[in-house]
Amino acid sequence: MASNTPNPIPSYAANRHERVLIIDFGSQVTQLIARRLREMGVYCEVHPYNRAEAVIAAGFNPRAVIFSGGPASVTTEKSPRAPQAAFDLGVPILAICYGQQTISVQLGGAVEGGHAAEFGRADVEIKTASPLFEGFWEVGKRYPVWMSHGDRVTQLPEGFNVIGTSENAPFAIAVDEKRRYYTTMFHPEVVHTPDGAKLLENFVKKIAGMKGDWTMAALRAEQVQKIRDQVGKGRVICGLSGGVDSSVAAVLIHEAIGDQLTCVFVDTGLMRANEADEVINLFRGHYNIPLVHVDAGQEFLGGLAGVTDPETKRKFIGKTFVEIFEREAKKVGGAGFLAQGTLYPDVIESVSFDGGPSVTIKSHHNVGGLPERMNMKLVEPLRELFKDEVRALGRELGLPPAFVGRHPFPGPGLAIRIPGEVSAERVAILQKADAIYLDEIRKAGLYDQIWQAFAVLLPVRSVGVMGDARTYESVLALRAVTSTDGMTADFFAFPMDFLGRTATRIINEVKGVSRVVYDITSKPPGTIEWE
Ligand code: XMP
Repeated sequence: MASNTPNPIPSYAANRHERVLIIDFGSQVTQLIARRLREMGVYCEVHPYNRAEAVIAAGFNPRAVIFSGGPASVTTEKSPRAPQAAFDLGVPILAICYGQQTISVQLGGAVEGGHAAEFGRADVEIKTASPLFEGFWEVGKRYPVWMSHGDRVTQLPEGFNVIGTSENAPFAIAVDEKRRYYTTMFHPEVVHTPDGAKLLENFVKKIAGMKGDWTMAALRAEQVQKIRDQVGKGRVICGLSGGVDSSVAAVLIHEAIGDQLTCVFVDTGLMRANEADEVINLFRGHYNIPLVHVDAGQEFLGGLAGVTDPETKRKFIGKTFVEIFEREAKKVGGAGFLAQGTLYPDVIESVSFDGGPSVTIKSHHNVGGLPERMNMKLVEPLRELFKDEVRALGRELGLPPAFVGRHPFPGPGLAIRIPGEVSAERVAILQKADAIYLDEIRKAGLYDQIWQAFAVLLPVRSVGVMGDARTYESVLALRAVTSTDGMTADFFAFPMDFLGRTATRIINEVKGVSRVVYDITSKPPGTIEWE
């Protein structure tokens, strides 16, 4: 669900962690700055440049500020600037790439376009020692970094010194140690700058003096208290999808408010083999959490009969899910709150500079449309977390590692992995083949190296020969990708013998499949799912 209404700025009054404010100028890799800091136990939030002032005014109170890179050129009119409030905080600032250019211009320096651009790998030579790279970069030596910008600073503001240069970036690192302003033309947040994470760590810990107090145990205790404060004696219902996010949210909420929580698990009949049983066993058996199990396979399959268009499938499934959930929620009765496993990437705001609205917000609701219609308040305890942090929180809460580490699974389920018409028979074939594929991946010890692996049952038949008989059955495609967030992905390079073994098993054991192919498309240009 997309919306152009900005998220309300929360109250930061109850903050207990040290924090960093990352001001976003629209770089593709801004989120990586946040990830790197969180990995070192430092809490941070990303806010667009045109909202940062309001966030500071709301009491965000950061111990340091980072300006991200961005696609604009400071030499053009209306290019974005950092708010004065960021400087008025008096805390250390690290300005990266576009951030370096805007801080230079804003503090009285100059930037020019049209120089030989440096994209990709460059070597930076260290001229002067600085706490920024103390302990790993030495004066007089060169180190690889990753650059990506056309413009460059030509004159530094007063108080700044160049302490690192590269062939095409004479101001690769420029700093004002007195005011604690640090600027780099390269991106320390990407893995192609091998020492970048250490540089960010020096900035927040050595320069800004932060301890790194963001631990899962602290987060768990804090969120439990937050949920109790929000919900009071009210009742919460939580739609469980079987995925990691909604499961972790439910277990956390249950820890906070016990049986004031009811979970509703709508079994669409479009889940992976054994998935529904695993969810029910975990919630009822392991955690003793009240769970309403709705077996809605017939309703979904009935409605999907004759539907082949991917968007129609998705819309039907979404609508039916909401209807069933709503019906069951009414039966539970009197719940004033709806819990969702919304994650930070779902709420983070992205900045757009090219004609579109200045702020686009991805506001993805796992149970889209429900909150408005049901007039319930949202409980979203994972709103500040990345996927890997949700997994860490799940482990902290004692969820079984195999459950926490499961690959993401799309809401519309196997329906979008059966191009063409979906039938009970085809779902059963796919479940069987998919289970064999995942079994082989686990046996080969590859499961945790893969972001998502699944089979797709194609609406194409192919001739085969089994024993002495001719077969004419469906083609099955195997897909496996690596990714950090699902936004981009590379196909996974299985050893050939793995693919051969898996294909043989599937064709021998699954009636209805006569040929197996492997999908080697990356994203972009492909998507992860086939529909
Ligand atoms: P694509 O296919 O767009 O998928 O590259 C990116 C990631 O999103 C998942 N996905 C979905 N998840 N509802 C969901 O909850 C959906 O409709 C949906 N479509 C795709 C996909 O599995 C991958 O992880």
